[in-house]
Amino acid sequence: MDINLIYASTSGNVEIVMESIAKVLSTKGFRTFLFRAERTPIEAVKNNDNFIFGTSTWQHGQLNPFFLKLYEQLNLLDCHHKKAAFAGLGDRRYEPVLFCEGIEKIRKLWLKKGGKEIGSVLRIEGEPYNQLDSIVLDWVNKIAEKMKG
Ligand SMILES: Cc1cc2nc3c(=O)[nH]c(=O)nc-3n(C[C@H](O)[C@H](O)[C@H](O)COP(=O)(O)O)c2cc1C
Repeated sequence: MDINLIYASTSGNVEIVMESIAKVLSTKGFRTFLFRAERTPIEAVKNNDNFIFGTSTWQHGQLNPFFLKLYEQLNLLDCHHKKAAFAGLGDRRYEPVLFCEGIEKIRKLWLKKGGKEIGSVLRIEGEPYNQLDSIVLDWVNKIAEKMKG
């Protein structure tokens, strides 16, 4: 099964998480394709079925700006028969009540457009480096099972 991982990252935190997710999925037999959102045409979503979306949250609960164009184009797409899991990065020190709100915006839009959600949202607080072999790995293991189902 192919899984397309589409993400926005400014300082590389989201990127390292998405790369780690892709690596684990590859060892489980999935074919993975990593896309930076700002360089991704909407056709990549239109022409595929399985996704993991990732973004950080910026500026008081906003999407990472690198995801904005694709987000707007997603709003014009019918996402029935497509499934996605969601990975968010954030930091409660910036906005306790808007923690990881960026990925929540993408998730809500996806559901509104008829897309199916796989598993629960991964929310990573702060630097991800020492969470890759624990929180991230546990999450990917669950998502891998659900993607197959
Ligand atoms: C100016 C600024 C605003 C931020 N605002 C939020 C926020 O509203 N909510 C949140 O959960 N995290 C917020 N963050 C934390 C980032 O989402 C977090 O550092 C993330 O790991 C960055 O990932 P990236 O470098 O891959 O984009 C903010 C960070 C900065 C620097």
